[in-house]
Amino acid sequence: MKPLRNSHLFFATLAGLCLLGSSLAVADAPLEGTKPAQWRVLWTDDPATTATVSWSTAARGENHTVRYRKRNSDEQNSIQLADSGRYTGGEFELYYHHARLSELEPSTAYEVQMVSDSEQSPVFYFVTAPATTRPFSILHGGDSRSDQDARRRVNTMIAEMVASSYDNDDEADDILALAHGGDYIVSGTKMDLWSMWLSDHELTTGPDGRLLPLIPARGNHDKGKPFNEVFGFPEDDLNYYSISIGPDVRFVTLNSETSTAGDQAQWLAEELSQSRKSHCWLLTQYHRPVYPAVKEPGAGLKSWVPLFEKFNVDLVCEADGHNIKRTVPIRNGKHDETGVVYIGEGGMGVPQRTPKPERWFLQEPGMADQGHHIFVLTFQDATLTGKCVLEGGKVRDEFSRTARAQPLTQ
Ligand SMILES: [Fe+2]
Repeated sequence: MKPLRNSHLFFATLAGLCLLGSSLAVADAPLEGTKPAQWRVLWTDDPATTATVSWSTAARGENHTVRYRKRNSDEQNSIQLADSGRYTGGEFELYYHHARLSELEPSTAYEVQMVSDSEQSPVFYFVTAPATTRPFSILHGGDSRSDQDARRRVNTMIAEMVASSYDNDDEADDILALAHGGDYIVSGTKMDLWSMWLSDHELTTGPDGRLLPLIPARGNHDKGKPFNEVFGFPEDDLNYYSISIGPDVRFVTLNSETSTAGDQAQWLAEELSQSRKSHCWLLTQYHRPVYPAVKEPGAGLKSWVPLFEKFNVDLVCEADGHNIKRTVPIRNGKHDETGVVYIGEGGMGVPQRTPKPERWFLQEPGMADQGHHIFVLTFQDATLTGKCVLEGGKVRDEFSRTARAQPLTQ
């Protein structure tokens, strides 16, 4: 047995020394002991300089760290300790680990490896957001809660879309991140369901080990403590926050599942007032639609829409309805070319509902349909182009918005 142990030791040491080695893009990693699994990168703070690298283990373990360094460099690894704990979720035992990386360089690929006691993940990488103007794309989708097969197919499609976006010289199609508008699972207090979602999320990892940063929003099915534990928020966080993706795009995530008025509306007013002055593009995402294609409007219609219109938000990304929709531009409750466009409403793994296309805000040039889908939002110069891509790759809807303000550095 001794030679075998030695050879294990040799390879473990080699792996530790050679973080750079070829990575294995593994999906559905088993939850065994302290083997890192359910890997993900979260963007909830400045994504040019920070990111949270997160994973799960079946056993509590003792030491949880991320090794990281610039990709393809011979720099020495930096080590970041993780914040760890047990996910709240009844008898289902699973542990979270969040390594919060900071002081990163913009537009830079970092390779990362999660280490829990003597176990280590494959080597992955992610790329920080730019700090200077460049064209790029992000994905938006929502509602992945009740059709696991579809969820897995959509996640696989996302990984393929991301990989092919880097397969050419066109910078504009490069997908930097995925914004998820909520309703990840059916019952937000059930950690066994979260665990399935987290393992399925591994499928968004590229074949070369690229982790797609996630910008999460809370849905009505995501009630309970696990949401903050899964996405690395502080325990009592209310999940509204904004990030800049490059100097031109301000992406504001709201929480339709707590009071939309009061503190949140006040925060939103201040946020939009400031960011309208400094950013070319203002986008918001949240779960419950205010101009829904199926259901009744959420409370944001009163609390937020006047602010969207006052500060000329460029695009609003909604979820929850389980359909495809794009509204006409809306101001003061009417079609108005100077108004705000709303897209949605979730198709990352839920049976689709039949929309009500007779609603005034879905008339041409708006639209409504159904089908599993993801939106690709591309920012290039003074144009935002949106595409609704169906499972299988067909583009169901395409639209564009012209910037109301100029990009900062063009
Ligand atoms: Fe919902």
